[in-house]
Amino acid sequence: MQRTLGVCYYPEHWPETQWAEDAARMAALGLTFVRIGEFAWSRLEPKRGAYDFDWLERSINTLHAAGLKVVLGTPTATPPKWLVDEMPDMLPVGADGLVRKFGSRRHYDFSHDGYLEECKRITLALAKAFGAHPGVAAWQTDNEYDCHNTTLSYSPAARAGFQAWLQQKYQSPNALNRAWGNVFWSMELSDFGEIDLPNLTVTEANPAHVMDFRRYASDMVVRFNKAQADIIRTHSPGRDVIHNFMGRTLAFDHFAVGADLDISSWDSYPLGFLEDRSDQGDAWKQTFARAGDPDFQAFHHDLYRATSKGRWWVMEQQPGPVNWAPHNPAPRDGMVRLWSWEAFAHGAETVSYFRWRQAPFAQEQMHAGLLRPDSSEAEGYDEAAQVAADLGALDAVLDVQPGKADVAIVFDYPSGWAWEIQPQGREFDYFRLVFDFYRSLRKLGLSVDIVPASAPQFAGYPLVVIPGLFSWSAELIAALRAYEGALLIGPRSGSKTVDFAIPDGLPPALPRDILDMRVTRIETLRADTPVQVTEDGMLQFWREFIETGSGAKTIFSADDGIPALVKQGNLHYLGGWPDQPLMHDILQKLANGAGLLTNKLNDGVRLRRHGNHIFAFNYGASSFDLSQLGWTNEPLLGKLVLEPSGVAVAPLQFAGY
Ligand code: GAL
Repeated sequence: MQRTLGVCYYPEHWPETQWAEDAARMAALGLTFVRIGEFAWSRLEPKRGAYDFDWLERSINTLHAAGLKVVLGTPTATPPKWLVDEMPDMLPVGADGLVRKFGSRRHYDFSHDGYLEECKRITLALAKAFGAHPGVAAWQTDNEYDCHNTTLSYSPAARAGFQAWLQQKYQSPNALNRAWGNVFWSMELSDFGEIDLPNLTVTEANPAHVMDFRRYASDMVVRFNKAQADIIRTHSPGRDVIHNFMGRTLAFDHFAVGADLDISSWDSYPLGFLEDRSDQGDAWKQTFARAGDPDFQAFHHDLYRATSKGRWWVMEQQPGPVNWAPHNPAPRDGMVRLWSWEAFAHGAETVSYFRWRQAPFAQEQMHAGLLRPDSSEAEGYDEAAQVAADLGALDAVLDVQPGKADVAIVFDYPSGWAWEIQPQGREFDYFRLVFDFYRSLRKLGLSVDIVPASAPQFAGYPLVVIPGLFSWSAELIAALRAYEGALLIGPRSGSKTVDFAIPDGLPPALPRDILDMRVTRIETLRADTPVQVTEDGMLQFWREFIETGSGAKTIFSADDGIPALVKQGNLHYLGGWPDQPLMHDILQKLANGAGLLTNKLNDGVRLRRHGNHIFAFNYGASSFDLSQLGWTNEPLLGKLVLEPSGVAVAPLQFAGY
């Protein structure tokens, strides 16, 4: 089977007498992978050097004997008490200067060299012990970097590491002073040893200083992951190295971490995310309370697919109510199955449920599993069984890869840091801006690929969108020149130099032969004071004052006559943050002009092209007749009338392509 299912399991939580039965039930359910071990350090090494791997070996043997494949986690997200007591300065420090203590998880500092060495040691011991075990198919490094906001730490180790990193980057204090503009407010420094971390300043720290700290902190996550990946590769050849990313987490550069992985994965909790990570208002949250946002998971599937050159999994899939959002409703019947299929539609190899059995103790005792604490089957179990049955019927028919999507959106982690450092208006959030474009494209029925700004490959896409890009690289400018399809840039793209200054000649700082215009000022707007542009379209939150040269043409202006959309050749520049009606209009025209077929979908229905097939999903609460979209024959899975929580898949030609 190409597509497989898995589950997260904690043998150390259950009596050993239960393991064989658990394994047999997993296999009978149709699962292939079982992830274990990622929080088990206190059981693997109860005292320094006193390794106890026997139980882990027996549990791997048990799972293997049942025909299951193990994903073995390195336990470095949960350093044990004895280790923390040996080196208390490995604990992370919050922006408030307070130490974050032992007693939950992720209590470590990425900059701490001593802790990094300990992580290498335990990883090496595990990789030597289990690297060649026939039951071990893959490894997971650590668990969810940045979970609980742990990328940034303001510790003495971070300060020393940051100073060394800056010295390497700038070579001389004067070069740093110039790059940061430290003449402002007498911030000039004469020695790298004087540089402090950008927290606890009286008012905001210099944005260039914070930006470099964000780059440094991201590099530390990359270093940490790579140290483990290298050891695993040496001692466990032929096994995939995986990490599980999170939803709406921009604190480190996931493309850079992904470069050291074989497979990216992420942890998908649609209902928790809707409650706790969505910018949408209450009406939307109410509508989708039991279904999750129709675009949020899809966005991350597309994003993380791009971080590891195509191979990706959902490592943790929400199976029922979680415990950590403000409210934790139960999914509507069918949604666990729909979420699983949405992942496969975007090219996932494996969807793995979190977790096998609900734990009756400790922090996550209110978090559902596939089984209840008494081992009876919870609601999610039946839906996982349904997905296994669907796969049995359909897997061989589907292409292996989703293939190239209709549209590429450029995504860039440094842009996320930059606009978090300097939003200028409360609503200016990079993720929110990019996600608005993504949602609008999805509502048009289009499939989207995410392309990193650091590796801009646009060939083959009819339409490319670049919202809110911090700063151009020479590579990106070359890619713009070479690209012949429709291009939409802005707002705020190219508005800074890499040193976080306003570029010479003003934004968007593109050569005049590419775009002959400049932004002479910008304003940010309250949500209740948008600028009217078309009859029902507005610019909101962020608005630019554009002056065009002779090379660029104004396509339309706001009511006050200021250009809002400008065109030069195949490039359009958008001078503000459009609301959904305006964004829809602009994207539809560009997409149709580029030869793409668009649909007008309602809020709950979404499509995803996968090779020669197309999927339809109904997140909404009412049925939707797919024949409205030109679908003719009954789909291979599902029905033409798509019920709430329904999934349908059909060959492209059944759907009018
Ligand atoms: C994830 C984490 C898991 C578990 C889960 C609960 O963020 O990786 O260990 O805590 O959330 O939803």
